[in-house]
Amino acid sequence: MTIHSFWRRLAALAVSATAVYAQTSTPSRTWTGGVATCTNGLATPSSPGGTYSDNYGALWNVECGQDLTGAAYTNLGTNNQGIYSCFQNCDRLVGCTAFAYIGTVTGVSSGSGHCYHRTQAGSYYLNNTVYAAANLISNGTPQLPCPYYNGTTFTNSDGSVWQVFCGFDVSGTTISGGSPADMPGCMTACNALILEYVDIYILEFYNINSASPLIFAFPGNGETATNIEGETGLDDSIVNPYAVVAYVNGYALGFASNPAYSPQGQYSFVDDIGFIQALITNITSSYCIDTGRIFATGHSNGGGFCGVLACHPTLSNTFAAFAPNSGAFYTNNTGGSQDPTTVEPVNTPVEALCLPGRNNVPILEFHGTNDGTISYLGTGNRGSPGKVVPSIPHWVQDWVLRQGYDSTNYTTSLTSLNVYMQVTRYQFGGDAGQLGIITHYMLSNWTHNWPNPASTSSSPLNAAPIVMDFFYRWTNTTRPPTYNPLEHGLGVFVDFLGNIQYYDGFLIVIQPSDEQQQLRQYAIINA
Ligand SMILES: *[C@@H]1O[C@H](CO)[C@@H](O)[C@H](O)[C@H]1NC(C)=O
Ligand SMILES: *[C@@H]1O[C@H](CO)[C@@H](O)[C@H](O)[C@H]1NC(C)=O
Ligand SMILES: *[C@@H]1O[C@H](CO)[C@@H](O)[C@H](O)[C@H]1NC(C)=O
Ligand SMILES: *[C@@H]1O[C@H](CO)[C@@H](O)[C@H](O)[C@H]1NC(C)=O
Ligand SMILES: *[C@@H]1O[C@H](CO)[C@@H](O)[C@H](O)[C@H]1NC(C)=O
Ligand SMILES: *[C@@H]1O[C@H](CO)[C@@H](O)[C@H](O)[C@H]1NC(C)=O
Ligand SMILES: *[C@@H]1O[C@H](CO)[C@@H](O)[C@H](O)[C@H]1NC(C)=O
Repeated sequence: MTIHSFWRRLAALAVSATAVYAQTSTPSRTWTGGVATCTNGLATPSSPGGTYSDNYGALWNVECGQDLTGAAYTNLGTNNQGIYSCFQNCDRLVGCTAFAYIGTVTGVSSGSGHCYHRTQAGSYYLNNTVYAAANLISNGTPQLPCPYYNGTTFTNSDGSVWQVFCGFDVSGTTISGGSPADMPGCMTACNALILEYVDIYILEFYNINSASPLIFAFPGNGETATNIEGETGLDDSIVNPYAVVAYVNGYALGFASNPAYSPQGQYSFVDDIGFIQALITNITSSYCIDTGRIFATGHSNGGGFCGVLACHPTLSNTFAAFAPNSGAFYTNNTGGSQDPTTVEPVNTPVEALCLPGRNNVPILEFHGTNDGTISYLGTGNRGSPGKVVPSIPHWVQDWVLRQGYDSTNYTTSLTSLNVYMQVTRYQFGGDAGQLGIITHYMLSNWTHNWPNPASTSSSPLNAAPIVMDFFYRWTNTTRPPTYNPLEHGLGVFVDFLGNIQYYDGFLIVIQPSDEQQQLRQYAIINA
């Protein structure tokens, strides 16, 4: 259940939209089915009327020297265009379907007077004070949102709602530019800009009197909070019976470290680090959160952002553990010349040097060898501005060395749910009695996707339960080694509840019974 959203509005919400609407000085006109001679500048109406097709393709029946029954709802001047203004005015007014014109016509598009607009068709009746009256026969193409929605509310196709003032500018600072094809395009682009928010999932067992862990989940570039919510499956109370989850929408659907975004790209004004800090303050003030168990996971650009948080001097302490999938770990090294398997430093576009505030940051990374977006082998030049993206083993090993662990790993071949894919787990930290504190899953043949059989049937594994177990296992860094194969032999580890778990090279997908869920909840309450 999503019961809370946190919004941060970086752009002022545009309640007015600018549109340049040029008055047509010589309206085009097409008379069919008999010309209404009263439009030719004759002083005295003399013909019963005709059919007029206006600039937007709307068809009108026009009668000279006649008024209409029913009341007018507004009247507008003619801008010296005589009766032609009335057609245009009516096109601009939401709901306008008829008008009567009282005034002069001094040429094909000139004259002055007033247009009395109506929202309903009227019956004609003779009145020589009225120059002519018109009823709409069929609608034209409304010019969206201007001039048709001038002064009213326009709902764009993306659901955003705008108050439109045609021919006006808005005050304030311009934060971004672009060239969408039309105003609805500008609205869509602007709406994406202001959508920096989170959907916060409140677990079934959430209790104001007990501290819940908090997981941040960051989607891939161009994806939304809803995408990562569906991909991970962390709303499933079997997979996640403990944690409040904040699914985060990045500003313009991206996160810092993507070179095209911030800090160097088109959204250089966006401070994602500040956003996350503000979010943590907000959520921990709104909910009872175990601040020792704040975690980050994410996919692709969202995975890369986990890397940025892990490299941050203070957020590396705020977050207890990180679990990126298919991470886009852009370095800030200019693309073109360096080898992704040896590039140094393995920094981020946000941090000139990766300087975590501690030397025991738990990291779990999943990556497919067939990842066609963020190559497992790295990329020499990716993004704009181009950056070196390290190979995944190099990125993992750099974390291992940065934190002072031995470069050797404990390799386990695990059962895959897909016969065409192999799952190989590399665990580091065993030399320090912290085996698995840095863990990498190499998924052979897997692509650039979050592994979850429920959302992608070809998935080699379901990442979320593994992520959950990792988070709990590595929350308490003073805990004695949870799994040391040299002591326990293959396939034994102690889970975060202190229970011995067994496996023999096979992947265990933890699906706790209701009773176990309650136990886990109990463990959290007493943590
Ligand atoms: C958190 O943010 C929401 C939405 O922006 C706001 O309504 C709420 O008051 C904030 N809570 C706290 C404790 O700051
Ligand atoms: C004709 O229209 C004018 C303007 O609306 C109005 O003042 C006048 O009373 C009308 N005359 C008749 C005969 O209806
Ligand atoms: C929009 O409406 C406002 C207020 O009625 C008016 O001043 C302005 O001229 C209109 N703009 C256009 C382009 O018609
Ligand atoms: C990243 O590289 C760019 C260009 O080389 C440089 O201007 C910027 O300061 C660097 N950022 C950091 C955080 O080092
Ligand atoms: C783990 O160790 C094995 C054996 O030395 C090696 O082949 C493999 O590349 C290592 N994995 C990583 C991610 O470093
Ligand atoms: C990758 O998939 C192909 C078939 O598409 C299969 O032949 C190959 O053995 C697979 N490789 C691994 C490492 O699973
Ligand atoms: C961490 O583990 C140690 C050793 O098992 C234990 O004494 C301590 O209470 C644990 N701390 C938390 C916050 O769970």
